[in-house]
Amino acid sequence: MVNQSEVAHSVDPSESLLKVEDLSLSFGGVKAVSEVSFEVMPGSLNGLIGPNGAGKTSLFNCITGFYSPTGGRVLFRGKNITRRRPHYIAQLGLRRTFQNLRLFPGLSVIENVLVGAHNRADANILRVLLPSRKRRESESELVREAYKWLEFVGIEKYDSSSARDLPYGIQKRLEIARALIANPTLLLLDEPAAGLNTFERKELLDLIRQVNGLGVAVLMIEHDMDLVMALSEQVVVLDYGRKIAAGSPEHVQNDPNVIRAYLGGSDDE
Ligand SMILES: Nc1ncnc2c1ncn2[C@@H]1O[C@H](COP(=O)(O)OP(=O)(O)O)[C@@H](O)[C@H]1O
Ligand SMILES: [Mg+2]
Repeated sequence: MVNQSEVAHSVDPSESLLKVEDLSLSFGGVKAVSEVSFEVMPGSLNGLIGPNGAGKTSLFNCITGFYSPTGGRVLFRGKNITRRRPHYIAQLGLRRTFQNLRLFPGLSVIENVLVGAHNRADANILRVLLPSRKRRESESELVREAYKWLEFVGIEKYDSSSARDLPYGIQKRLEIARALIANPTLLLLDEPAAGLNTFERKELLDLIRQVNGLGVAVLMIEHDMDLVMALSEQVVVLDYGRKIAAGSPEHVQNDPNVIRAYLGGSDDE
């Protein structure tokens, strides 16, 4: 069993977990992200939506250190993490999944989860400090933990399969298990429901609720509006790199700017 305190370690519930301030990113002349600001509270469920090319993945890449923003700041648990390296940010407890999955296809499922523990602070330290017997014990403890997360996402029967042989929906769950073994306080999901059938989407919704039940805050990019609206307390909407709306699902669904962005019209109404 996984308990809440293992995951949501020492987060002040009244202060924002993630603060994005005036974040911008340009590619040559293209402003992929333009002065975007929003906050994510500890333990909350949040959606990030917007038409294709709106800058959602670019924003994730800036938050998680994969891209270097051209302006603005990112604070995580009060710490300025702007332009820090991805592994450093991951170690602080901010983990993500990728729109195009990034598993190690030649490794087994359990090995892929263990890779997720690699940049956990304690895993690194133990490897250096402990004598070999203790080290082996701590590594087998890590293996047990990896199995626990496989069970949590419901794919333990695939433990020794190669990641490349897995059905797509199972690969997506594996990515989530790999993120969870690092004990994140914030999980960023980039289009978790894409490519899943109706049944798998329903299961994913349950899984995200379960993850959130551990105290993990979630920010998800998702095109499945039913899923986003059912799950999110806050929805942030991007269009052409700009934040055009933010608030409760009801609020953003009724926002004229959001309706216009999704209908594809601009000034010709
Ligand atoms: N690595 C990159 N190099 C150049 N342009 C990019 C790159 N990544 C994204 N873009 C551009 O930035 C804009 C936003 O893309 P993206 O963040 O992928 O949008 P979304 O995830 O909302 O579909 C698009 O115009 C896209 O072409
Ligand atoms: Mg994207």
